[in-house]
Amino acid sequence: MEIKLAPSILAADFNVLGKQVNMIEGAGVQYLHIDVMDGNYVPGISFGTPVIKSIRKNSKLVFDVHLMVNEPIRLVENFRDAGADIITVHAEACSDLPATIEKIKNMGLKVGVSLNPASGLDMLEPVINDVDMVLIMSVEPGAGGQAFIPSSLQKIRDLKEKVEKAGLSIDIEVDGGIRADNVMEVLEAGANVIVSGTSVFGGDILDNISKYNSVFREYEERHSASN
Ligand code: DX5
Ligand code: ZN
Repeated sequence: MEIKLAPSILAADFNVLGKQVNMIEGAGVQYLHIDVMDGNYVPGISFGTPVIKSIRKNSKLVFDVHLMVNEPIRLVENFRDAGADIITVHAEACSDLPATIEKIKNMGLKVGVSLNPASGLDMLEPVINDVDMVLIMSVEPGAGGQAFIPSSLQKIRDLKEKVEKAGLSIDIEVDGGIRADNVMEVLEAGANVIVSGTSVFGGDILDNISKYNSVFREYEERHSASN
């Protein structure tokens, strides 16, 4: 699976959000990770559809919308209309997960399912054949800038094994506490979509992206050499 960096705008400077989105797009990034928090499923509130609609006007990035929202089935059309390309919902937040996934798919969007650190992979069973992506949270959802939870690595390995055994082609996205100096372990465990807030938008954005790109190249060289 192709490796993709998905910078999370939660860590962007909203005073110059459009400029920062253009900057990462100019640097060749393909995904934009958009963290929506409802003050209910998670304690805080981030932003919603008006912000997404506004940046959509000026960006062709793949909008990877991560809904940290209770019963997202109520709201997925609004996020589609605002410009989402991928909608990811939390398994823990849906009383009818299969119906929620089906609704997103029927709108013609890509669909992801996310698991909190404490949630087991068994929660994926009802929908694993129907999703395009699984998002493993490597911090508790709700805030940027937290430390990566090391046990996430084994969970990613287990998921990768499960996906390969089932012969599925699913993106494995990992979110929380990833930096250029620990991303290699996350890739080695089996992830291919890497969310990063603080370590892209904190400091020199272009320099931060190029640090990630050099680790991605190193990973690819390592693995093409071993094939
Ligand atoms: C946490 C969010 C993350 C977060 C990642 O609830 O889902 O996307 O912004 O931020 P960093 O990279 O700073 O851990
Ligand atoms: Zn996220």
